[in-house]
Amino acid sequence: MYVSDCISVNGRGNLTVGGCDTVEIAKEFGTPAYVFDENEIRKNIREFRKSIDENYGGKGLVHYASKAFSCKEIYRICASEKIGIDVVSGGELYTALSVGFPAEKIDFHGNNKTYEELETAVENNIGRIIVDNITELETLNSIAAKHGKTAGIMFRIKPGIDAHTHDFVKTGQIDSKFGFALETGEAMEAVKIALEMSNIKLCGLHCHIGSQIFDIDPFELAAKVMLELFADVKSQTGIELEELNLGGGFGIKYLESDNPKPFGEYMKAVSKTVHGYCEKLGLKVPFIHIEPGRSIVGAAGITLYTVGAVKEIPDIRTYVSVDGGMADNPRYALYKSDYEVVCANKATEERTETVTVAGKCCESGDLIQENTKLQSVEAGDILAVLSTGAYNYSMASNYNRIPKPPVIMVKDGEARIIVKRETYEHVSECDI
Ligand code: LLP
Repeated sequence: MYVSDCISVNGRGNLTVGGCDTVEIAKEFGTPAYVFDENEIRKNIREFRKSIDENYGGKGLVHYASKAFSCKEIYRICASEKIGIDVVSGGELYTALSVGFPAEKIDFHGNNKTYEELETAVENNIGRIIVDNITELETLNSIAAKHGKTAGIMFRIKPGIDAHTHDFVKTGQIDSKFGFALETGEAMEAVKIALEMSNIKLCGLHCHIGSQIFDIDPFELAAKVMLELFADVKSQTGIELEELNLGGGFGIKYLESDNPKPFGEYMKAVSKTVHGYCEKLGLKVPFIHIEPGRSIVGAAGITLYTVGAVKEIPDIRTYVSVDGGMADNPRYALYKSDYEVVCANKATEERTETVTVAGKCCESGDLIQENTKLQSVEAGDILAVLSTGAYNYSMASNYNRIPKPPVIMVKDGEARIIVKRETYEHVSECDI
């Protein structure tokens, strides 16, 4: 009935998540609030882990791309599920290390890591630093030398693939700020430079072709292009690289009309390509890393709001204003992203109205969804926006000095706070 498996409706006609009544959650913790179902997150992680194990005979590792949703508890969950993570900033790295996340299972990304970020990574023996450019490579080599260490790295490669998705989230083509281009020969040149460096160990290559991708072929094509580069490296340097990171980007269901394939299908198809091309090119199958973010947490999260004003503009539209908005979910304002919206306390009623759900920020573009179907609502009703688990909390801001909502984790009918609601003191605490 709803886009996400962890959503249901109870006998009172209220929407539930992970066995908890969302109207009760709203009462207990206030709104706006992000709510995540822990079992759903763990289920997704296990599905990825199982399929990487099955398809690569145990020679693969899932890294949760924590830019999708970063906080201490998600790193604890990943650690307990024995997967790795990918981090993209000193802040994510700090948060993961602060809960004792195993450093050797961390991949560190970013197109402009600072000296301090690189030094922290070296000091903490982070598993792999995904090097984006030559300047970074040189800086890292000198930092590693200063600390008497060898940094394990992979290069981020732009495989030049059109991943049929929103332009803003396409990162694999040549006109991208991320990584080394293949076409210009800079990727091969970087490999040769790294192989000469005394404090760098080049472990492998990385690519990421985009996000919210439904088709399998771009992933297969990326694997093929990357293995051809492995073969070129072997023939030009005699070195056979040992690891291939194929990134993330698996699409999830935001609307009923979205039809993502089960993760296992991507994994099976890509594994077939990897095995086939390795045989054809005379390579041994590298250790495979993948980095799903959205597909682990996206559908496991929802956002709860309280309805305030309902403004009907005859023959134009009806605005339903809520107590959150672009500060907690900027994705509609940024990408016109689709979401399903439900009135949590009228979940059994039909969605007969066509409305625009607006936030409370001082900005006309502060919308959560336009022309969406909703039950007939009034002030005080609770709205649930579904599948907000990825890139909502992590992209939230304090625009208009709005404190960020709390994150509530639910599991088997029990709810607990994992990130506290910000206060006005928090949003002004750095002011002098
Ligand atoms: N690995 C790398 C190197 C990435 O750049 C990304 C996402 C991922 C993994 C995870 O991709 P996922 O599995 O979550 O699709 N803010 C945008 C999404 C930006 C994604 C950036 N990179 C959004 O809200 O849709």
